[in-house]
Amino acid sequence: MRIAVTGCEGQLALSLVERSRSWSGVDVVTIGRPHLDLAEPATILPAIERCRPDLVVSAAAYTAVDQAEREPEAAFAVNALGAGAVAEAAACVEVPIIHISTDYVFDGGKQGSYAEGDTPAPLSVYGASKLAGERAVAEATPRHLILRTGWVYSPFGKNFVKTILRLAKEREDIAVVADQRGNPSSAIDLADAILDISARLTKSDEDAAFGLYHLAGAGVVTRADFARHALSASRAEGGPWAYVRDIATDAFPTPASRPSNSSLSSAKFTAAFGRAMPAWQDSVKRTVRRLVANISSESS
Ligand SMILES: NC(=O)c1ccc[n+]([C@@H]2O[C@H](COP(=O)([O-])OP(=O)(O)OC[C@H]3O[C@@H](n4cnc5c(N)ncnc54)[C@H](OP(=O)(O)O)[C@@H]3O)[C@@H](O)[C@H]2O)c1
Repeated sequence: MRIAVTGCEGQLALSLVERSRSWSGVDVVTIGRPHLDLAEPATILPAIERCRPDLVVSAAAYTAVDQAEREPEAAFAVNALGAGAVAEAAACVEVPIIHISTDYVFDGGKQGSYAEGDTPAPLSVYGASKLAGERAVAEATPRHLILRTGWVYSPFGKNFVKTILRLAKEREDIAVVADQRGNPSSAIDLADAILDISARLTKSDEDAAFGLYHLAGAGVVTRADFARHALSASRAEGGPWAYVRDIATDAFPTPASRPSNSSLSSAKFTAAFGRAMPAWQDSVKRTVRRLVANISSESS
């Protein structure tokens, strides 16, 4: 089975490449700029046709949440029009698509974790552009699986865990917001789940439970406690550590508003595919172990 993944250097794309080595008969091919540019719709179908995939994973996105407030047209071009064009291309080559979306489609007003039936109400341009992308994908092809996830981190690219470890090398204490809750989601775990369900999506449409799902790390935590856990794991591995000081979101203004609660319930996914995500604490430890090993080898 060949899986075409959009974006070459993204956290999820690189995790899919890495994890695919443990799956026999799975070939992950990443396609990104300049050959496939989501802001240049004419590049999309030819790039996907050349790949001859059995399945498309639409992982690339305009992910600069704050910058999107200044560049709404660019964010919508990539996350809405671009995502829709990828889904149209998948339909054109007659394969299903897994499209990745975000917890930031919600406004955070709910007390508990969000389910798929909850009404989205994005607070940011990024969230609105991703929601428009979900709708464009669903309109383009019925053979879609839209996976909303949140707080993605990995050994690759830019992410919260890497930022916290870098700051811990430079400072004794780090201020982190303590009034935003979510599910830290390992891109490696997401990749494993996607590879596991891919065979079912490509086998026959009768087996494929297409639709909208939430898929995020098991457990809910604040940003500050997420940081504390990552730093404790780092210290246990001989890596950097710093004291985490709780602050309120109001004390750390950012161009984009973020939901105070964007935790997602993955129960529908688990019921449909018989697969649950690992506890976020265990996955953070695994990623931190790799990051600290990289820091040690860079400094030796
Ligand atoms: N990161 C999170 O916390 C988070 C949370 C919820 C949902 N998500 C969603 O999960 C998915 C994967 O996220 P991620 O963290 O792996 O993303 P990421 O590491 O930020 O990577 C984004 C990828 O998109 C590519 N890209 C951006 N603009 C493009 C364009 N015009 N044409 C083609 N490729 C383009 C980038 O390419 P270049 O390498 O060329 O820049 C990069 O490879 C995204 O859909 C994101 O919206 C992420």
